[in-house]
Amino acid sequence: MSDIAIEKSWQVLQTHGADIAPLHMRDLFAKDPERAQQFWREGAGLTLDYSKNRILPETMGHLLALARAARFEQKRAALFAGEKINITENRAVLHMALRDHREHIYKVDGKDVMPLVLAERARMKSFCADIQAGKRVGATGKKLTTIVNIGIGGSDLGPAMVCDALKPYWREGQRVFFVSNVDGADLAGVLRQIDPETTLFLIASKTFTTQETMRNAQSARQWFLQQGHSDADIAKHFVALSTNLEAVSAFGIDADNMFRFWDWVGGRYSLWSAIGLSIALTIGYDNFEKLLAGAHDMDRHFQQTPMDDNLPVLLALMGIWNRNILGVSAHAILPYDQSLHRFPAFLQQAEMESNGKSVKLDGTNVVGETCPVIFGEPGTNGQHAFYQMLHQGTDIVSADFIAPACSHYEIGDHHAKLLANFLAQPQALMQGKTLAEVKAEMKQMGVAEDDIEKIAPHRVFPGNRPSNAIIFETLTPQILGALIALYEHKIFTQGVIWQINSFDQWGVELGKQMAGAILPEISVSGETKPKASAYDASTNRLLDHLNAMRFGKERGRS
Ligand code: F6P
Repeated sequence: MSDIAIEKSWQVLQTHGADIAPLHMRDLFAKDPERAQQFWREGAGLTLDYSKNRILPETMGHLLALARAARFEQKRAALFAGEKINITENRAVLHMALRDHREHIYKVDGKDVMPLVLAERARMKSFCADIQAGKRVGATGKKLTTIVNIGIGGSDLGPAMVCDALKPYWREGQRVFFVSNVDGADLAGVLRQIDPETTLFLIASKTFTTQETMRNAQSARQWFLQQGHSDADIAKHFVALSTNLEAVSAFGIDADNMFRFWDWVGGRYSLWSAIGLSIALTIGYDNFEKLLAGAHDMDRHFQQTPMDDNLPVLLALMGIWNRNILGVSAHAILPYDQSLHRFPAFLQQAEMESNGKSVKLDGTNVVGETCPVIFGEPGTNGQHAFYQMLHQGTDIVSADFIAPACSHYEIGDHHAKLLANFLAQPQALMQGKTLAEVKAEMKQMGVAEDDIEKIAPHRVFPGNRPSNAIIFETLTPQILGALIALYEHKIFTQGVIWQINSFDQWGVELGKQMAGAILPEISVSGETKPKASAYDASTNRLLDHLNAMRFGKERGRS
């Protein structure tokens, strides 16, 4: 289908959006007893309730027509076929291969990649077994019980989020730390807590050129040597996770101590690859396989389920409807599960780095909007922070409420209380509270008429605010795998509809380049720098002041 078909589908949606505008969800629920059941789907162990969106049954037809006009089914086939859909980097996108066994053949340039994938997974498995059994030990013969993953972005957020989420599955005595920020505070904070003799550093970087990771890795190595170890001991305590063998060797880690992945694995989609070694070491390799299996279940669901029963497609379409038709510009990720406290941060990269684009695949500008701002906190913490704005602010924010039915930490009625809030908040956002209801309630409470008139408007909730609910039984490795893959495929689907490349990230380059240019102008050890003149007036002035504050009179050092 052509751009004209897409354009027409958008027009139909816009018209339909205008028809929906005066409707309130509380009336839609009141009128249609089937509504909750109608907008409820299950797959790969997850349940999605999308009934608290401002939609009618026909809305789904219009949204599905848009996805078809954007050739979603053909593009999904191209994704799984290993076509180079990341056109600006001429790369295939096959993170799904990393969680497959031999069910499907994934080819890049006509070559089956599964033998490579399975061989690397087998290496990871035996590495984990050797560490666990004490066959592979540190330079002084002690067991390696502490993992320090040094990486940033996709080489940090996924593994850190998963390790946190799956704490109940940690191997006994295992410790894991993540260092990402080039701010020395991050590395220093971890080094303070670890013993070099029992520590294994994983230097995780797809490119092995990322400034922050390389700097942290060098400093970690320096620290390790300062603790009385020799260069020869490095091999026992430093491992690389990367696609770049040459850069890994140049750093001083040999091929035996490197776990590989490939350019067809995007950084933010890489936790399933060697980048997940910190996960496998922490929760045990078998549990890592379960995480992969859960994601694989979702891959199958995504690939084989009709679009109107397909969880990632439905989640994507709700996002498109809210963003492009209802004008919602921010989307909250609200896990009612403390274990998932890093999930919003993980999705910030996954969604915003993937779909925060304004140029289409054909090089022309996007018309309309793409990725909303993604943010979030676990419930109930968020309720005491930013939910005020979600309920009564001038902007409408959409949300995904996520919760397990059962907790790994069933202490008294903690989880029941958590679930009560998980149910109440989206209900309140949807239903709201009218002025008449507020007044009646205040009257019943015996509030004086004058006070009712003064205060009541402040206590009104407009409601009609959209949200999805995602529930599952317990947060197991398998379920977490499915949950992450749900969002990965949601992102892909939205990228198809917006006609953008979800798999490059040129937007991170300019700042990196500029930092490289500015770096030599920052005083490191008190040397006087010439007055800055190469940048805009604001940057020049800030640079001069920072240099002066670092080593000048302002700090009382001259
Ligand atoms: O921020 C840009 C980025 O390239 C991300 O896409 C990536 O996850 C991160 O940097 C880290 O990259 P690398 O794994 O190559 O160090």
